[in-house]
Amino acid sequence: MLQQKKIILGVTGGIAAYKCAQLVRLLIKEGAEVKVVMTKSGCDFITPKTLSVLSKNEVILDFFDSNNNWNNHVHLAEWADLFLIAPLTANTLSKMASGACDNILLATYLSAKITTTVVAPAMDLDMYKHETTKLNLEKIKSFGNLIIPAENGELASGLSGEGRMAEPEHIVDFLKNHFASQMPLHGKKVLVNAGPTYEAIDPVRFIGNRSSGKMGIAIAESFARKGAAVTLVLGPTHLVPSGSSIKLKRVESAEQMFKSCTEEFDSCDIVVCSAAVADYQPKTVSSSKIKKNEGLLNLELIKTTDVLSELGKLKKQQCLVGFALETDNLQAYAEQKLKKKNLDIIIANSASEEGSGFSGDTNKVTILDRHNKITNFELKKKTEVAEDIVNYIVDFIK
Ligand code: CTP
Repeated sequence: MLQQKKIILGVTGGIAAYKCAQLVRLLIKEGAEVKVVMTKSGCDFITPKTLSVLSKNEVILDFFDSNNNWNNHVHLAEWADLFLIAPLTANTLSKMASGACDNILLATYLSAKITTTVVAPAMDLDMYKHETTKLNLEKIKSFGNLIIPAENGELASGLSGEGRMAEPEHIVDFLKNHFASQMPLHGKKVLVNAGPTYEAIDPVRFIGNRSSGKMGIAIAESFARKGAAVTLVLGPTHLVPSGSSIKLKRVESAEQMFKSCTEEFDSCDIVVCSAAVADYQPKTVSSSKIKKNEGLLNLELIKTTDVLSELGKLKKQQCLVGFALETDNLQAYAEQKLKKKNLDIIIANSASEEGSGFSGDTNKVTILDRHNKITNFELKKKTEVAEDIVNYIVDFIK
């Protein structure tokens, strides 16, 4: 969640500053880019060198660096996605509340127009309890700053109670939750099915199709990047989604696909059925390998369950999205499927058009929705098509 996030860490002069070494390490480990700005008294508790090595950036201590170059606090504030002040002393807190600006940390704070500022106060027991502190915290909260409350425990003075800076792990969790809450699909549950299904003929043979699952996997990944909790029900393919946040359920047959999807369906907000579910399965599955003989081999096939149609019947609050793979009359057939299967959106793609369809890396789609809106997209990489589809769905559910 902190991958490539740009974070300024402001360090003020409290004993908890020693924990900033660990804090910077954790932020870097999570993939964040960190620049540290310190007050003079912050340097009494931890050396800028330590934080410079750990953050892989020079620490900013004053309006001018050692070569007399101006440290542009406006650019610094513009660079950041978030300004974290940890520890925040009572002194810096009161200056933030009153608008004082006698150091580079405060100048950066005042310059941070769009950047969210998060503070982790650290004070001794009675300072933290003091009415002025409480008022100042309320005041900076009313400016839109976020506060990570001090934690309970042993304090540097020997007293015990509230005032300890939140542990670095808790600060990192707070930031992760903060960034997650900013994502467009935060709190949404999404189900995607993808890949082919295999319908057994005997223990060694099956009826399958050429679907790679690429399109559906890219859609699941795109949903996850936008903060949704994603479950991917995936048929037999060697491909897997990247990133560990996607809950993966492997299935083989149409029946298993149906069972797995209906188990998840009720609690979902968005459901995308991109799987190339087999339309037919052998009426009986031979328990032993079928031996070859002289005559013809006749297989009797029966229809599989249409997963999407069944979900369409169960639909309540869900935004239900299906695919239509056609060789001809693309739009007309897609419209029919949209209505017949009770869908909100259908993604029509051609099985015969150059660059479209099953196994390749590209696709060309037309999106139709239940408000009769039709949008044509260019031929693109499947990952880009997935972004278009997910963006369309995000707009649609708004
Ligand atoms: N689908 C499904 N279960 C099936 C068959 C299809 O869930 N047994 C879903 C697919 O995942 C897709 C949509 O239905 O989202 C349309 O699939 P498609 O193969 O284009 O059409 P079919 O409904 O199977 O009809 P036809 O093959 O006759 O075009």
